[in-house]
Amino acid sequence: MINIRTKDEIEIMRQSNRLVAQVLRKLRAAIKPGITTRELNQIAERSIREAGATPAFKGYRGYPSSLCVSVNEEVVHGIPGPRRLKEGDIVSLDLGVYLNGYYGDAAITVPVGGVSQEVTRLVEETEQALYKGIGQAKGGNRLLDISHAIQAWVESFGFSVVRDFVGHGIGRNLHEDPQVPNFGPPHHGPRLLPGMVLAIEPMINIGTWEVKVLKDGWTAVTADGSLSAHFEHTIAITDGGPDILSLP
Ligand code: MF3
Ligand code: CO
Repeated sequence: MINIRTKDEIEIMRQSNRLVAQVLRKLRAAIKPGITTRELNQIAERSIREAGATPAFKGYRGYPSSLCVSVNEEVVHGIPGPRRLKEGDIVSLDLGVYLNGYYGDAAITVPVGGVSQEVTRLVEETEQALYKGIGQAKGGNRLLDISHAIQAWVESFGFSVVRDFVGHGIGRNLHEDPQVPNFGPPHHGPRLLPGMVLAIEPMINIGTWEVKVLKDGWTAVTADGSLSAHFEHTIAITDGGPDILSLP
């Protein structure tokens, strides 16, 4: 069952998601060669608690940190630790908070210093793919119109869409119905209605779409070691079209 949120609930969710976006902006500014992924997690956790919110991921199914930090061929769910970022890396930051009874969830991918043209393109077109998907998130469309728009965009560049992880409904729980794949045929799936709130999150690889999970039980990496990027926004479907809640 897909929840329909009232306008008041959506305004509360905007607060949760705005906090996520503000903390991600702070983290983006902190990224430079030499910083450890653990330091990024500390900044995230402190900022969330200072705002009176709770990290959503810490303790979720046993996940140990407040922030997911996934470097280079890591796709999602990388666990922060002593690793130091270096020039040429790309780093994906995925953050969730719980505030006033509702969740916020968003992710960005940031190059560390200069990266190659191909890697710049991966990062930029993954973000563009997210916006292509958001553009389909309107009343009257069907869920997989979002999925198809993302897939068509990234495959036109020869990149591939991760299949094993998907976006999701979000609200009083971090993960709610429906699942939001980043691939699929247009004009399929449930009808989109005003009041639905979705976390749309394409994970895009330069090489093959296959992933595997490391022995830590969390870190997903590309099966071929190719680089991967990830962007996520939480959006509400409204009478006026998609409303991006995770903006600073
Ligand atoms: N944005 C991701 C998701 O929606 C992050 C979850 S990480 C976890 O699934 F640790 F909470 F699992
Ligand atoms: Co998510």
